[in-house]
Amino acid sequence: MRLKDCHNFHDFRTLARKRLPSPIFNYIDGAADDETTLRRNTASFETCDLVPNVLRGVQDVDLSVTVMGQKLAVPFYCSPTALQRLFHHDGERAVGAAAAAMGTMFGVSSLGTTSLEELRKAHDTPQCYQFYFHKDRGLNRAMLERAKGAGVNVMMLTVDSITGGNRERDLRTGFSIPFRLTLGGMMQFAIKPMWGINYVTHEKFALPQLDDHVDMSSGAMSIGKYFTEMLDPSMTWDDVAEIARFWDGQFCLKGIMSVEDARRAVDIGCTGIVISNHGGRQLDGSRSSFDQLAEIVDAVGDKLDVIMDSGVQRGTHVLKALSLGAKAVGLGRYYLFPLAAAGRPGVERALNQMRIEVERDMKLMGRTSIAQLSRSNLRFR
Ligand code: FNR
Ligand code: LAC
Repeated sequence: MRLKDCHNFHDFRTLARKRLPSPIFNYIDGAADDETTLRRNTASFETCDLVPNVLRGVQDVDLSVTVMGQKLAVPFYCSPTALQRLFHHDGERAVGAAAAAMGTMFGVSSLGTTSLEELRKAHDTPQCYQFYFHKDRGLNRAMLERAKGAGVNVMMLTVDSITGGNRERDLRTGFSIPFRLTLGGMMQFAIKPMWGINYVTHEKFALPQLDDHVDMSSGAMSIGKYFTEMLDPSMTWDDVAEIARFWDGQFCLKGIMSVEDARRAVDIGCTGIVISNHGGRQLDGSRSSFDQLAEIVDAVGDKLDVIMDSGVQRGTHVLKALSLGAKAVGLGRYYLFPLAAAGRPGVERALNQMRIEVERDMKLMGRTSIAQLSRSNLRFR
């Protein structure tokens, strides 16, 4: 199987699985507990159907949206994800370049493996910075100031990771950063030699957003440990209100699921929220983002930009979310598997396919601009 054989999410996932050592593939693919939310995220798009209109003159379709003050050429963006240089040696550089070519936003994670400054300089497309709230308040302020100085457009505080999710696949594989290749681990990596050669011949693994604060030399630190030891579980709305004031720009919370929390986000001055369950990787049994979207849009949609992610794999998923009132849709594994499968050409192909799907589906729906999508073109079963 080659890149040219990849026509959808599932094809890219299959190719990524072939290329990646299994602990890395399972880190991306896996979710918490029984992975019920992971499955539900995508399945919930099938609880409603699209009702098209015809004969409306759809030769020119405008897919652009403005979200959190950013003009995007397409209504989807690359959600921030950790550790991208483990998935492909070009990591964030490949994703940033592909997002820029598409004219859309990409996120840089606190756990990113390329510095936010380098990425900000390399591309002029909107960039959001995903922030975790650390116990060390000095570290929090320093990170915000750094992001401001770099020219980050949107600050995105992740609020659904107050403690690590129970990712049992990672427990079984012993997935940890940086790699400690035990004999057993070496065996798993030995059967994917190209990945191993690329890993050792390219720039050394690093977490440049955290470099000054996390000592990676003293041993393997698991993702779970980062969450439990460095992040602050005592974080409250008051802390976040202070951060939002300090940032004084486009500020959103990623991982809002309830109407009550959405209202509080408005109260503390957020300009956006991302309805998300972290791709099912945190609280298993959490409702899907798509199922929660309508009631949150109804409550706060006129006061801030409601965005959603988790489970999006198709152009029709994007259309359904926008029809319910989302301003844009975040992609996670949808671009990560292509990154692992083929680097920048992989991500470009996947984003391009999504754009083509959304455009085709808009035409088939009889719509020429995103603003024309509404609940009237959806029926729930
Ligand atoms: C993530 N996600 C994530 N979110 C975040 O706020 N900070 C992070 O560092 C990461 N890292 C990360 C790594 C991997 C491997 C995955 C799969 C996801 C969550 C991500 O931004 C997004 O919310 C989900 O991926 C959306 O679900 P889908 O699109 O993957 O189903
Ligand atoms: C994850 C973290 C890093 O989902 O957000 O793995």
